[in-house]
Amino acid sequence: LQLPRILSSQYLQSSRGNKIPVHDEHLFIVTHQTFELWFKQIIHEVDSVRQIFADAYLEERNMLLLISRITRVSDILQLLSDHFLVLETMTPQDFLDFRKNKPYLQNGSGFQSLQFRLMEIKLGMTDELRVQYNQQHYMNVFFGEEKEKLKRAVSEKNLFELVNGWLERTPGLEANGFDFFDKFKCSVQAMHEEFKAFGEEIEDEDEKKEHLLEYKRGVENFDSIFDENKHNKMIAAGDRRFSHKALQGALMIYLYRDEPRFHLPFQLLHALMDIDSHLTKFRYSHTCMVQRMIGRKIGSGGSSGYLYLRSTCSDRYKIFVDLMNLSSFLVPRDRIPPLNRKTRRSLS
Ligand code: HEM
Repeated sequence: LQLPRILSSQYLQSSRGNKIPVHDEHLFIVTHQTFELWFKQIIHEVDSVRQIFADAYLEERNMLLLISRITRVSDILQLLSDHFLVLETMTPQDFLDFRKNKPYLQNGSGFQSLQFRLMEIKLGMTDELRVQYNQQHYMNVFFGEEKEKLKRAVSEKNLFELVNGWLERTPGLEANGFDFFDKFKCSVQAMHEEFKAFGEEIEDEDEKKEHLLEYKRGVENFDSIFDENKHNKMIAAGDRRFSHKALQGALMIYLYRDEPRFHLPFQLLHALMDIDSHLTKFRYSHTCMVQRMIGRKIGSGGSSGYLYLRSTCSDRYKIFVDLMNLSSFLVPRDRIPPLNRKTRRSLS
């Protein structure tokens, strides 16, 4: 376990030059080291998952392994959010004892966490989606070997891209086969027409207007997936990420999750959403802690601090945001196009 090395790696800056150490600096260091160890484990898991996904054909026998590793990543992230509770036992005044105004923490900042950036990149975070601070690129604080590691990670396929490719191959999407999306579109259009016809019978004018408005909203909502141009515009605006085909694959797995061959893919999509949920909660826990520690002061890394961090808790930072939003396109069970015999057999 190399414990002598790990346990002797807490160098308190405040005790340099035979000064009396600031008590809470020990907690600050141990907390950060713990986080970094868990980041290392997450990267280890994400790399192995990416490797399995990278094959042109995903062996179904690997599904359980994938799900357990992805679940492990989200469980670690969940655990990390709670770590902040311990750090919050340090009062802001005690933190000030070794923060920027004393020459201890100086410009040390979370921006320098190489592993956090690697984790984000390998999961699927891209430059376009990031909020910039002071017009700075996040790589500017890294040099030499560390910068090379980041560049290499950017050049490799991330988990998001690999999942996107896998979803595009979902059985049942083939235009010359079951052609799920075309059938789904027809079913939704029929549902909307019935809804509209029902509204036209309503006698009360206000109620009728309200009903028609709901009809229009429903049509617009589904248009954003049926019309590929609209879908691509949403991608360009950063509001959607999956390719048109991958979105269809995810929807198909959602709707036909009771078919045996989709049981594990459905669980896998859920596990991916858990990663996003827990990563967002992690960001939010950190942001709340920062607010109570330094209020609106600027960060030691030069950002606006709390305000910058708050902006990283938004949907732009969710890698699999499309999976979360997929619920907008669920329809009642009797509207799900029935599978033909051949497709049912291939999904059994
Ligand atoms: C008293 C405790 C902490 C304070 C006051 C604090 C404050 C901040 C601030 C102000 C930033 C914005 C960047 C800057 O201008 O410096 C930041 C970023 C960051 N911090 Fe912390 N932090 C604390 C603890 C931690 C811990 C325990 C971790 C765990 C590894 C952590 C990880 C990060 C990361 C990864 C970023 C970059 C976030 C991003 O750009 O999305 N911080 N922190």
